[in-house]
Amino acid sequence: MKKSNDFEFDDLQGLLRFGYGKLTDTCFMLLNIANVDAAKQWLNTAPISNAVTMDSPPDTALQIAFSVHGLRILGVSESIIGDFSDEFIHGMTRNENSSRRLGDIGRNAPERWEWGNDSVTMPHILLLLYAKKGDLEAWRKTVEDDRFSQAFQLLRQLPTSDIGRVEPFGFDDGISQPTIDWTYRQSTDPHERDRYSNLLAVGEMVLGYPNEYGQYTARPLINPKKDQLATGLPDAEDDPALKDFARNGTYLVLRELGQDVPGFWQFLDKASSSKSKKREHLAAAMVGRERNGTPLIAEHIPGISRKDHGNHFTYDLDAKGNHCPMSAHIRRANPRTGDLPGGVTGLGIVGFINRLIKILGFGQKPEEDLIASSRFHRLLRRGRSYGPFLAPEDAIKPDAPVAERGLQFICLVANISRQFEFVQNAWIVNGKFNGLQEEPDPLLGNREPLLSGGSTDHFNRPDPSGPMQKTCHLPQFVTVHGGGYFFMPGLRALKYISALPANGGNSSS
Ligand code: HEM
Repeated sequence: MKKSNDFEFDDLQGLLRFGYGKLTDTCFMLLNIANVDAAKQWLNTAPISNAVTMDSPPDTALQIAFSVHGLRILGVSESIIGDFSDEFIHGMTRNENSSRRLGDIGRNAPERWEWGNDSVTMPHILLLLYAKKGDLEAWRKTVEDDRFSQAFQLLRQLPTSDIGRVEPFGFDDGISQPTIDWTYRQSTDPHERDRYSNLLAVGEMVLGYPNEYGQYTARPLINPKKDQLATGLPDAEDDPALKDFARNGTYLVLRELGQDVPGFWQFLDKASSSKSKKREHLAAAMVGRERNGTPLIAEHIPGISRKDHGNHFTYDLDAKGNHCPMSAHIRRANPRTGDLPGGVTGLGIVGFINRLIKILGFGQKPEEDLIASSRFHRLLRRGRSYGPFLAPEDAIKPDAPVAERGLQFICLVANISRQFEFVQNAWIVNGKFNGLQEEPDPLLGNREPLLSGGSTDHFNRPDPSGPMQKTCHLPQFVTVHGGGYFFMPGLRALKYISALPANGGNSSS
């Protein structure tokens, strides 16, 4: 087992380790490079925050990530770029099929986005500034020095606001996150890992380390004999003769998601005949947690603490969704499944036979739709809200103030397709999930009819004492306004980028 201080936290951008929750003021900038030389000079000395812990946490932080266009403009060679994942290279809006799979159709269609839908509106750089309350303007002035102004053009500043621990619909947010196994405490061997665990291999979030398959995610590696500059990069653990351009880096997924807060609460109010208790129940059922963060499963799991948001639970004891509906947002986004279905972890020969029966699919009822093991599909969420806070009690009023509100959804992953795109497509947008038919995520569904013509605008909650409770004609509550895939490099890779010659890299894999 490693010690956590053995880890190269000084080469990692801080966001991979911290949510910067105490730095409540943020400024998210989408930048284009106006002058390549000035940009490289600025990057060379930019005060990008690393992931080393300090006795007194800093009052400010700065993080940077590049789109594929940004890397190209800065001169990163095509042989390096070609070794990034296809999703990063070709982008979030790469073709109609991928947009459909991500739910980006109808009002979410990229043609309607405000940014990110083509090479003109997709920025080169995403710059994330964080500061303690009241310190943001001063921090921004420090970051935006003379060289910065020469180097970059501000394409867009994404709105963000500090509305406390909640997201705009009013639910506590940022509760459930994977814990990264920096010290390699846990084996990734499936024989030792049949149950759900929140501890996750470093390589699921950080490139250059073993992932949950015990393997290294494909990434750009450089032969230092052909590229002198690369000698400053870390060695590739899986091929020490090569240098690892992506080690300590990650992919950053950004989606600007508008939330219709009055629309959400007014719909729920109507569907609950203006009975406040019923309204709260329905809202909590859609999320899977009460507004204060208590998981709906809480009362049914012995020992789970309601106070600390109890995050140590699975849905094994709620196989039919009687407590937390199958379709609830948090159940879809992380079904907390192990490698084997719940209830087959018995010991000895009986356990072995039970597992074999399940693995081979014998005796499986149609509603027991086995969903993929959660550990291969986790996301490290780092988003921030935007817009003024509107309490649900005010949002139900017919004259509720209309304003732009939503989430700058950010997640960090080592594999865009297996993590973000899988969760978004298979678990959130897909009508077929865990035995459900034609029923996407109640918060995020785009309500567009299926290709077969079936409707997707309903939400079902089982009632153990009666028939299924159906809520029909859900309007669209969340609309995509923009998005993109970025690469957030380690700090040595950032130095490499800033030192590239003007005529482009001379590297080859
Ligand atoms: C405006 C859009 C969204 C809203 C309002 C929203 C709201 C929430 C809330 C209230 C929670 C529970 C609190 C917590 O565990 O942190 C949650 C959890 C979560 N959400 Fe979202 N979310 C949104 C978009 C997304 C998207 C686009 C994804 C992924 C593609 C996602 C993935 C997750 C995950 C993985 C969890 C944790 C589930 C768990 O481990 O139990 N969310 N979200």
